[in-house]
Amino acid sequence: MQPGIDRWDKVFNQRQLLTLVTYAEIINEAKALIQAEFEWEKAEAIATYLALVLDRCVDKNCRLSHLNTAKGSVEGAMGQHSLNLMWNYPEVGLYGLLWGYQAECTVSDYLKLCALFGTQPSATGIPGIEQWEPKSIQIDAASADSLYHIPDKSVDAIVTDPPYYSTIQYAELSDFFYVWQKRTLGDIHPNLFYSELTDKDREAVANPSRFRNMGASPEELANRDYETKMALAFAEHYRVLRDDGVMTVQFNHKDSGAWDVLAKSLIDAGFEITASWAVSTENPQNLHQAQKNSVSSTVLLVCRKRDLNAGQAWWDDLRPEVANLVEQRAPEFEENDITGIDLYLSAFGPALKVFSRSWPVLSSSGDEVRPEQAFAEARKAIASYRFRKLAQTDTAGFDPLTQWYFLAWDAFRAREFPFDEVRQLALAIGGFSVADLAKTYKLLDSASGTCKLLTPQQRLKKRAFSVREQEFSARVTGRWTARYYSDLPGRTGHPAGAPVYESHRLS
Ligand SMILES: C[S@@+](CC[C@H](N)C(=O)[O-])C[C@H]1O[C@@H](n2cnc3c(N)ncnc32)[C@H](O)[C@@H]1O
Repeated sequence: MQPGIDRWDKVFNQRQLLTLVTYAEIINEAKALIQAEFEWEKAEAIATYLALVLDRCVDKNCRLSHLNTAKGSVEGAMGQHSLNLMWNYPEVGLYGLLWGYQAECTVSDYLKLCALFGTQPSATGIPGIEQWEPKSIQIDAASADSLYHIPDKSVDAIVTDPPYYSTIQYAELSDFFYVWQKRTLGDIHPNLFYSELTDKDREAVANPSRFRNMGASPEELANRDYETKMALAFAEHYRVLRDDGVMTVQFNHKDSGAWDVLAKSLIDAGFEITASWAVSTENPQNLHQAQKNSVSSTVLLVCRKRDLNAGQAWWDDLRPEVANLVEQRAPEFEENDITGIDLYLSAFGPALKVFSRSWPVLSSSGDEVRPEQAFAEARKAIASYRFRKLAQTDTAGFDPLTQWYFLAWDAFRAREFPFDEVRQLALAIGGFSVADLAKTYKLLDSASGTCKLLTPQQRLKKRAFSVREQEFSARVTGRWTARYYSDLPGRTGHPAGAPVYESHRLS
């Protein structure tokens, strides 16, 4: 939490607290009346919905909310997936207005959910369950690594959207609501609200703050804790899934190290990846994504139990198959609006399809090959596919530096991007390292996990290139010289900041 905020009540001012505590008191008084009038199950449901409305009020009416000036609306504390105090925060008209509006929103969301699950006439939701047919849905709250209430091999399908390392600290964020819910729902759902705060011990996230002063790096310990929990969860999913069952895993982390660990734990649990679907999902307008070189698509990995008698495979045999399948799927991903860095990540699905069929996969020297090698092959295939598309010719005759520069603009579409992505792209092309890009060629600056492409002026200042044509070391340098001159006052150059390849066709 922010300095000085050591209690949850401190994220509200006195006026906000008074309003919210009054709502909580009214809900608790109403609960007694509701319980007197309705049977237990209905009374329990009404009280739970009232608590959900209170949650919305808490989200909008706190010192962490802010004004969205473009939309003229109040954004709640959870808009950023982290807890940030605001210098200026709006206050929604108190009493009736705040509650009334949030109650309307809750009802509207509830109706949409009913439509989606087909529990409402003329619902237009998920195909196959959209017809009116009263259904009962059972929701159990349990940790994914101990589904003790589900027998072995009894489940047809598992659909899971696991956490991604430290991206979002769900339990810490949940405490923001938990402290209110336990005051309104603690007596109705005692099994969910017995502890002071939410359970962080079972949570599968990498949270370094839980591993301070333990001798080793808190980040490393937190990552290991997350990986162990994910492995246990997948092993449990394997246990409950029928032998002919299917599991879909949603994943959209942009760090290829995270992909390597996810793939390895799926394979270790006994799964193979039989198909993958890339879909544009996350809204790029989300506050936690905007301005970052974030992934905006999600890859759904379709997993089935692997034939455990399939035996081992040799990586040298699989490698060309990975490249072929990735190139074959790339146009299909592009047709579905998967572009830039998302296209590289989407290629990991087909790569895993080939890689996970048999296990272990061995190198020619007999060592076990990790999934990251399949991902490197997939990157290479996408890099070569994209370059051919951009340059309308193959890579022959283009120095690796020029290839990297073009593909970096193509993949990241921004001046700033994560260091690891730069490294991976350099590896996919081969011939130089990130240090070469920064120090020898002075194409970028790198600091604290990010790299920034330098402008032609910045490069010239660093004496990165000469303006004498006979001294050009790479085509990209020639382009930069042309760009530098065209940007000079009085010249009609293309807009500063635009990718070079947009203005100059390769020759
Ligand atoms: C990527 S989010 C899923 C979001 C969800 N698909 C949605 O649209 O709301 C991952 C979720 O896994 C939950 N989680 C973390 N550890 C867990 C565990 N041990 N068992 C079950 N769920 C867990 C987190 O609380 C979080 O809600």
